[in-house]
Amino acid sequence: MYYFCSTIQSKVVMNYAIQIKEQSKVLVGSVTELLPELLPAKRVVVISDTNIDRHYHSLIQQYDHILIGLGETSKTLHTLDMIYRQLIELEADRSTFILGIGGGIVTDIAGFAASTYMRGVEFGFISTSLLGQVDASVGGKNGVNMSGYKNMVGSFNQPKFVICDVSMLHTLSRREFRTGLAEIIKAGIIADSELFKQLEQCDFSTLANDKEALSHIVYRAIKVKADIVERDERETGDRRLLNLGHTMAHAIEKCSSQMNHGEAVAVGLDMIAKVATKRGLLSEQSAERITQLLLRAGFNLEPPTEVRQLLKAINKDKKSEGDNIHIVLPTSIGSCIVEQMPLAEFKAMFK
Ligand SMILES: NC(=O)c1ccc[n+]([C@@H]2O[C@H](COP(=O)([O-])OP(=O)(O)OC[C@H]3O[C@@H](n4cnc5c(N)ncnc54)[C@H](O)[C@@H]3O)[C@@H](O)[C@H]2O)c1
Ligand SMILES: [Zn+2]
Repeated sequence: MYYFCSTIQSKVVMNYAIQIKEQSKVLVGSVTELLPELLPAKRVVVISDTNIDRHYHSLIQQYDHILIGLGETSKTLHTLDMIYRQLIELEADRSTFILGIGGGIVTDIAGFAASTYMRGVEFGFISTSLLGQVDASVGGKNGVNMSGYKNMVGSFNQPKFVICDVSMLHTLSRREFRTGLAEIIKAGIIADSELFKQLEQCDFSTLANDKEALSHIVYRAIKVKADIVERDERETGDRRLLNLGHTMAHAIEKCSSQMNHGEAVAVGLDMIAKVATKRGLLSEQSAERITQLLLRAGFNLEPPTEVRQLLKAINKDKKSEGDNIHIVLPTSIGSCIVEQMPLAEFKAMFK
């Protein structure tokens, strides 16, 4: 069997383990319990950001560490250059283990630094944001932005391990927490109707403090992504499913700074569900369940810019191949299809 998942009971909180690509595992559980077992007997250098250092200094200060700045503007070759220089100063060598502790920006950069420093050293992550835990830290994509385009330089390389400790999410802002919820709802629509049902029943006002419910939800969302990555690591087929709602979301992020990624994904999910209904692929009832869940999770589903303007921005998407575009359409809660179509046809669906 080339994919497995299992559950291990622990004293503090349920631990879940998901194996990806033989060499990598994602664990949902306590950092204090899991880290000593997972760290190899090697020198460790931590890469983190200044925010995480403020909240989790006692963890980070146990190791030599390199701190990066905050936001997408830090996700650059310039930051990478700074990291390489500090690794050299610290006399890190090929036997050094790099531990990225942070959200998606830290893990994307730390993964790429580790994949390229001295032609590659071993690395692992403690993923600290909800979006990081269910999406960014899982699947082996890493890299930096270039010339205004996201993730243009990077590699596919799986970390040895990813630890997702939901108790670290209590220091995350409510807005960043909600950003991760959009990707979890997306995972439910793509491949897990039970996860979607659990979200429909959950109390979003208390979820951030409900470790047991949160651990289970995070695990289910990771499993959706891990399962897809197992089948298609390099995004030549099924991995495209993970882009559900993202064509419109990227256009929203391009046209307006009002919404962060998750907020834009929520709008994109709602729009694509409505389009799928118009095309006769998704029942009106399922589309309505998607809308209601997104609203209950606290998302504003009104696009911040006119749809006409959003559609114009899609022209410039670097990931569009020629005149065609891959679009993910939901067919029910828990199942989606990928259709390749001319851009013009995609745009016409919104008329
Ligand atoms: N590699 C992939 O497959 C993949 C997938 C999705 C997204 N991404 C990337 O992930 C990035 C976004 O990740 P993100 O949303 O985690 O953003 P982020 O890394 O910027 O984290 C969001 C903010 O929350 C802070 N933070 C993180 N954890 C915290 C905690 N526990 N307590 C307090 N503050 C905390 C961070 O310091 C940051 O200010 C983007 O660059 C995106 O391209 C990558
Ligand atoms: Zn996303």
